[in-house]
Amino acid sequence: MAANELSLAGKVAIVTGSGRTNGIGAAIALALAKRGAAVTVNYVSESSSSKAAEVEKTIKNAGGKVTVIRADIGVPAQAKDLVTKTLSAFNTDKIDILVNNGAAGPYTNMMDAEASEVMDSTFRTNVVGTLNLVQAVVPHMPKGGRIINISSVITKLAIAMPVYGATKAALDFMTVAWAGELGKTHGITVNSIAPGPTTTDMAPPDDHPLAIHLKSLTLAADRFGAPEEIANAVVLVASPLSSWVTGQFISASGGVTNGL
Ligand SMILES: NC(=O)c1ccc[n+]([C@@H]2O[C@H](COP(=O)([O-])OP(=O)(O)OC[C@H]3O[C@@H](n4cnc5c(N)ncnc54)[C@H](OP(=O)(O)O)[C@@H]3O)[C@@H](O)[C@H]2O)c1
Repeated sequence: MAANELSLAGKVAIVTGSGRTNGIGAAIALALAKRGAAVTVNYVSESSSSKAAEVEKTIKNAGGKVTVIRADIGVPAQAKDLVTKTLSAFNTDKIDILVNNGAAGPYTNMMDAEASEVMDSTFRTNVVGTLNLVQAVVPHMPKGGRIINISSVITKLAIAMPVYGATKAALDFMTVAWAGELGKTHGITVNSIAPGPTTTDMAPPDDHPLAIHLKSLTLAADRFGAPEEIANAVVLVASPLSSWVTGQFISASGGVTNGL
């Protein structure tokens, strides 16, 4: 395959939750920018402000176009603001690629005393936040647009992090619903990319029983995935070559879900 078939030159992308240097979002932003897309790096926490500046620098050093915007995706007005500021930063009227990566990943169990509070805040970010972004972006997304929701293999495993898993299962359903709502009418594809355990702040420590169990389910190698390996899967789905792939749950996990 010619290398330029994966080119994203001229495309504009937003990657939510991409301000942590070691996160999956930052790896996705860099991978899209390296292929020519102008990319918005988004973060929400004050503590990620300097890290987001580092991500920006890395992308610029790689020759990419980038802007950094702070916004809480769970607040509809801030999601809209993220879109408006992206358009003005890149002096454009379109957004071609939306990667819904920003998420909270609590380990809370369903029967924990604070579960309803955590359920509420996690759904606000992972589910309603994604809805906010999709509603804000679609009016600016041309035919051939790509919406990629970062899910998790946890939706197929039901072994841990149930509150978090419930939000990702909801997201998987929304992926299919949006693929239908935005396919024939808008020419937009919508897919879930589901990482397995990946070496970021969200991953359990190496000696945690969950880490040991998840590694035992991984087929490709005895390790966690790297953020760059998830980013590569996103590039494939974001590229024009993936025009006939929509409404899918795509596991990028070293085979975790295939081993069941
Ligand atoms: N790591 C894994 O093992 C794994 C496995 C399966 C799926 N995933 C999924 O992969 C994606 C990236 O995870 P990660 O491992 O890179 O996690 P991470 O390092 O914890 O990053 C999560 C990101 O989401 C952002 N975020 C949280 N709430 C937000 C909000 N309200 N508005 C905007 N951004 C918000 C955070 O921003 P701040 O930095 O500003 O706080 C952070 O950058 C997530 O969707 C996660 O569920 C991860």
